[in-house]
Amino acid sequence: MHVLIINGSPRIKKFSNTDMILKEFTKGMCENGDTFHLYEISDKDNWDLIRKAYDESDNILIALPLYVECIPGLLMEFLETLTPKTGNAKMSFILQSGFSEGVQLRCGEAYLEKLAGYLGCTYGGTLVKGGNFEIRFLNDENRSKATSPYAEMGREFSANGNFNSDKCKAFTGPEILPAPVRLLVGFFFKTAVRKSFEKDAASLGCERPLDYRPYT
Ligand SMILES: Cc1cc2nc3c(=O)[nH]c(=O)nc-3n(C[C@H](O)[C@H](O)[C@H](O)COP(=O)(O)O)c2cc1C
Repeated sequence: MHVLIINGSPRIKKFSNTDMILKEFTKGMCENGDTFHLYEISDKDNWDLIRKAYDESDNILIALPLYVECIPGLLMEFLETLTPKTGNAKMSFILQSGFSEGVQLRCGEAYLEKLAGYLGCTYGGTLVKGGNFEIRFLNDENRSKATSPYAEMGREFSANGNFNSDKCKAFTGPEILPAPVRLLVGFFFKTAVRKSFEKDAASLGCERPLDYRPYT
């Protein structure tokens, strides 16, 4: 099969966690000869090309990060320019996010199911996975650890043509972290994770503390 893949992140390719996830996902997907063409929504100069590819494709996969509980505004702006399809096209999604609990992504997932219908496509399911905040800040070894499991999901997608298998559903992990784990996460957020966020922020040029409140 040939798949049109659209990275719906507003972040440019070089910095997009979605793009790093797609690298591994497509490795798995293409092992048995499937092919794909990948476009980035962040590249506004290419929107005419992406629209043309959408018009000509019957197997569309949109990979997107969760932004403020739902889909990024830039992707929405693009989607509003599309004409709903009339043939037998299928639309599937990879929805990934920062927070790790599955429950954080369910509202976005419910919207994506509707979105496929709004665009005249049958719904090929959504691969739902959180815990991805740090991907772009990791060293090569740890980034590979974080993203390589997506190769297996690429194989599943290639074999089934959708994300409805039990393996894909289990990939989400826990819906809600158990109470002791939440306590531990809370503790680590105040200590180790906070340090790591401070380091990430400094690497982006941030000179003030993360809890700096200039307006209070
Ligand atoms: C403006 C903004 C809003 C976000 N909102 C959420 C959110 O509501 N829930 C969540 O779990 N992660 C949220 N995130 C984290 C992203 O989903 C996560 O870092 C993702 O891996 C980014 O992918 P990208 O680099 O391809 O854009 C947000 C990130 C940004 C920048």
